[in-house]
Amino acid sequence: MSAAKWPENHSQSKALYERASKVMPGGITRILPWQEPFPVYAGSGSGAYVTDVDGTRRLDLLNNFASLIHGHAHPAIVAAIQEQVTKGTAFTLPTEPEVALAETICARAESFEWIRFSNSGSEAVMCAIKAARALTGRSKIVKCEGVYHGSYDYAEVSLDSSPENWGDDPKSIGYSKGVPEGVKNDVVVIPYNDVEAAERIILANRDAIAAILIDPAPSYFGFIPVTEEFIGMIRRVATEIGAVFILDEVITFRVHAGGAQTRFNIKPDLTVLAKIIGGGFPVGAVAGLRKFMQVFDHREGKPLLPWSGTFTANPITMTAGKIALDLYTQADSDRMDVLGDRLRAGVTEAFANAGFPGQVTGFSSMFMVFGHQRDIRDYRSGYSNKEETKWVTRLQRNLVLEGYHIAKTGKAFLSTVMTEADVDGFIAATERAARLAVKEAAEA
Ligand SMILES: Cc1ncc(COP(=O)(O)O)c(C=O)c1O
Repeated sequence: MSAAKWPENHSQSKALYERASKVMPGGITRILPWQEPFPVYAGSGSGAYVTDVDGTRRLDLLNNFASLIHGHAHPAIVAAIQEQVTKGTAFTLPTEPEVALAETICARAESFEWIRFSNSGSEAVMCAIKAARALTGRSKIVKCEGVYHGSYDYAEVSLDSSPENWGDDPKSIGYSKGVPEGVKNDVVVIPYNDVEAAERIILANRDAIAAILIDPAPSYFGFIPVTEEFIGMIRRVATEIGAVFILDEVITFRVHAGGAQTRFNIKPDLTVLAKIIGGGFPVGAVAGLRKFMQVFDHREGKPLLPWSGTFTANPITMTAGKIALDLYTQADSDRMDVLGDRLRAGVTEAFANAGFPGQVTGFSSMFMVFGHQRDIRDYRSGYSNKEETKWVTRLQRNLVLEGYHIAKTGKAFLSTVMTEADVDGFIAATERAARLAVKEAAEA
């Protein structure tokens, strides 16, 4: 791996950032890659690696935030896309690739009887919530504190609550100023993995709840899996009160060929999908039992919830998604478990060797680094104060210097094209990056 000097040697990235600052607020389009004093700009990607515009190659553990299960520019996906591009990129008419991807996904999990596509996970979350409202005639949704479900106002409520405002029972906090009171009033926030409190809060609102929205391993607190007791309670209570149980598998679909629901035996009514099912292109989907999905069916007149979108189910995304999923078998997913365990064990040891006061969490191909060592079971126990956050920021920056991309928040993802040697290299680099972070903290 080439020696990475950053930001000093990044004249092209710096120049691009200066141009970008003149035409985009903060010089960026997405908040995620922002990095002081300017982000590294990607030039190209191949397999597990990204080369930036200044020619430095790094192992990419971001994988466009968990959407590239086979890394960059997988040859089979590239070849199929090249062929499809020559036939047309978007039609108002339906296409065969759309049917083929729908068949592929529906074969993956018991609850996927029908599916509809969208262009992003956020859009799919919005459609699933609107579907639940149309089915029940109710307006409220239930979501867990500190869990990310994309950018629909309702799904964002209480995403970044803090000790100053979160209350005893989680309060409904708008994500930005000006969020309508109606939005906050229509979101019932529950603590993750707390069966007793969550059930009590849900039942207090029982007649107004359209949907219960759950991520089986939320990224914001380190991909901690939902407990069997908690998800069992959600399933039971949703049925009891006549609400729709929506499972957000936008990220977790990667933890098994049939998603987290197959791995953990979860029985949702509707599931939201995105990321890896698009093979590297923009995508989202809602899949579920016919009884619920019929809300979109127009065949008996106007559907309860019409669905549209100009680029929905475009054949580029559909073609890439099908190949990506065909190449992601249960054996591949099992291998991700083993590789992920190797990484987490190695990083835990590296932190201990370096005297770094943190931990690594997660399972399968997902992991997250924290600047504290508390036992994490929900948003509050995972919540990092400023000092704890600084440990992760220092580590991430030092990892960029070492030739590895993880998110500034400490989140990262493996892809199928990564090897044991890639993981071992990452572990060794993490120990050096952690030692440097300890030194930097002592000097600060
Ligand atoms: C769990 C979860 N749900 C929904 C979304 C939104 O998906 P998208 O970014 O495609 O809109 C994300 C995105 O990271 C996510 O992690």
